[in-house]
Amino acid sequence: MGTTITIFSTRGGSGKTITSVSLASTLSKMGYKVIIIDGDLEAPSLIHLIKPQKPVADLNYWTDYLGAKNLKVEDIINPTKLSNLSIIYSSPPEIGKSFLSKNSQRWWQNALRKSLTTQKKLYEIGYDFIIIDNQSGTSLNSVNNMILADVSLLVVRPASYGVGAAEVFIQEMHSLLKGMKPRKDFFVWNQVPVTDNPEEKTLLNHFLSKWDVKIEELGIEVATVIPFDHMLNLQLLNEITNEIFSLTISMNSSMLEIVDRILKYQNQQKRNGN
Ligand SMILES: Nc1ncnc2c1ncn2[C@@H]1O[C@H](COP(=O)(O)OP(=O)(O)OP(=O)(O)O)[C@@H](O)[C@H]1O
Ligand SMILES: [Mg+2]
Repeated sequence: MGTTITIFSTRGGSGKTITSVSLASTLSKMGYKVIIIDGDLEAPSLIHLIKPQKPVADLNYWTDYLGAKNLKVEDIINPTKLSNLSIIYSSPPEIGKSFLSKNSQRWWQNALRKSLTTQKKLYEIGYDFIIIDNQSGTSLNSVNNMILADVSLLVVRPASYGVGAAEVFIQEMHSLLKGMKPRKDFFVWNQVPVTDNPEEKTLLNHFLSKWDVKIEELGIEVATVIPFDHMLNLQLLNEITNEIFSLTISMNSSMLEIVDRILKYQNQQKRNGN
């Protein structure tokens, strides 16, 4: 059986998508067979960062599939430039009026059932890892993706208002998911300022270590610290080469740290017979 990882945040723009793609490409380059799902239905963005290899008009989306009976899982799986990495795109949000509305509880109950059987099928096809780029905040969709996941990464920017919201979320989500199945939740600092100024360094380290203690007390392991990389933003301004695989992303060492922790968790689970 494979492992499903969802990348989540309580606030938008914290770096879920960039982290999802970086993690997916790191795992696939290590030789694992990986599929990345755009699970952010309010702001799907993978289609802009990993260009489809066929016309957009011919794509079948994750959202079409979850709500339909006539599509097979093979119909929504697309190749990428990386041989070990496949992708499932999501449709633009205007298509999602029915399932994004407040009265869509039933739609999402069915979607969860279908996601669980699809997860099994993807493992049978041979995927080692399913990576879900999740929607930020709490919604029926984001909770479904948390339920599917064996591992989650909570990506947070170092700002007191952002991490405070994450703390509340961790408490609530954990009481909901506790005991459902074995799972491991990691915390990832992203867009951490880089400075040589001693006073700024002290301020930053004080903030991070104070929160590291609180977060670990809540049962979440702090997995890595990803620095703010202004080159990434500059490269994203270039629409022509704006395919994420062609960008130089300074996340590599952080991704290796995350992968290392995930593999350790998998081994621990195997030893426990799960
Ligand atoms: N480590 C980083 N260094 C510099 N910029 C970053 C870093 N991580 C993310 N960013 C920038 O932050 C922005 C948001 O990143 P991303 O789209 O991955 O966030 P997100 O959490 O998926 O957002 P959304 O909630 O809209 O889905 C992007 O423009 C990206 O370039
Ligand atoms: Mg995103």
